[in-house]
Amino acid sequence: MVNSLSSGLRRVVVLGTGGTIAGRAASGGDNIGYTAGQVGVADLLGGVDAPDGVALEAEQVAQLDSKDMGFDVWLQLAQRCAFWLSEADVAGVVITHGTDTIEETAYFLQAVLAPGKPVVLACAMRPASSLSPDGPQNVRDAIAVAATPGAQGVTVVCAGTVHGSLDVQKVHPYRPDAFSSGDAGPIGYVEEGAVRLLRDWPRLPVSAASKIPATKAGAATHWPRVEIVTSHAGATGAIVDLLLQERAAGVAEPIRGLVLAATGNGTVHHALEAAALRAQDAGVAVLRATRCASGRILPRADDRLRDAGALTPVKARIALMLELLEATAA
Ligand code: SIN
Repeated sequence: MVNSLSSGLRRVVVLGTGGTIAGRAASGGDNIGYTAGQVGVADLLGGVDAPDGVALEAEQVAQLDSKDMGFDVWLQLAQRCAFWLSEADVAGVVITHGTDTIEETAYFLQAVLAPGKPVVLACAMRPASSLSPDGPQNVRDAIAVAATPGAQGVTVVCAGTVHGSLDVQKVHPYRPDAFSSGDAGPIGYVEEGAVRLLRDWPRLPVSAASKIPATKAGAATHWPRVEIVTSHAGATGAIVDLLLQERAAGVAEPIRGLVLAATGNGTVHHALEAAALRAQDAGVAVLRATRCASGRILPRADDRLRDAGALTPVKARIALMLELLEATAA
């Protein structure tokens, strides 16, 4: 390990969690028939040169396909980020991560850490075994962002673009440039190791819930159960009513929150809305989040169910879980 304080180097710590970026297929020509989370993070850094004055350090936190991501890994990540960011000579942290839930992890980390140093999530759409993998360049770009003086907050770097944790969404299942920041647009671009900033770095906790310190979130032994139910043509209230029946029957983990993935400007099929109002009356916290890929819900004076503003349903779920956790801990 480099003694960076005495050598004058700044460290960028790379935490591995798996994903396609660490994926392996039987053949180099196969970009979809691979297993995610196979290659260790130290090996992913094998061919990556550190920027001048920067020492790299690797730590494996998890090794999974990010579709299977959950709060246990999120908490470990938050705690390892908090630890490394508190080291004086650490400029920033990079996290290698699968693309499928990267926007959720980014949102969660910004909510609980709102870090004054950069935490940069890097990913890939092609496995490490590909004939032309995109992971190595994405990791180089993420390290460049993490080493940029003045950078802060949680971002996602993919295909040379820096996205903020609040805005980023995966919008394509195959192309290497798979992410968008919607109406907000990206924070900037990485060009040959230099960041071209278009707007400010993320600074504040992203959620409606105020920032929950990673230590407090880590101390939580029980995460409130929040389900997402989609409103669509022909929707019914059956799923919500089943969840309420479960709750009334005293199941171990009753539903505490419900996110409605709503149509357009937060509208909900009348049958589902009636069930959601029954849930709200029974004490379940209900939030409407738009299914639209861009924009935000504009509230109306006669709304009977709260809206999640610009949050997507998956991010609204995290915001609601954190809000419920904070209310329980208060
Ligand atoms: C994953 O999310 O872990 C697999 C898919 C990907 O990284 O692109």
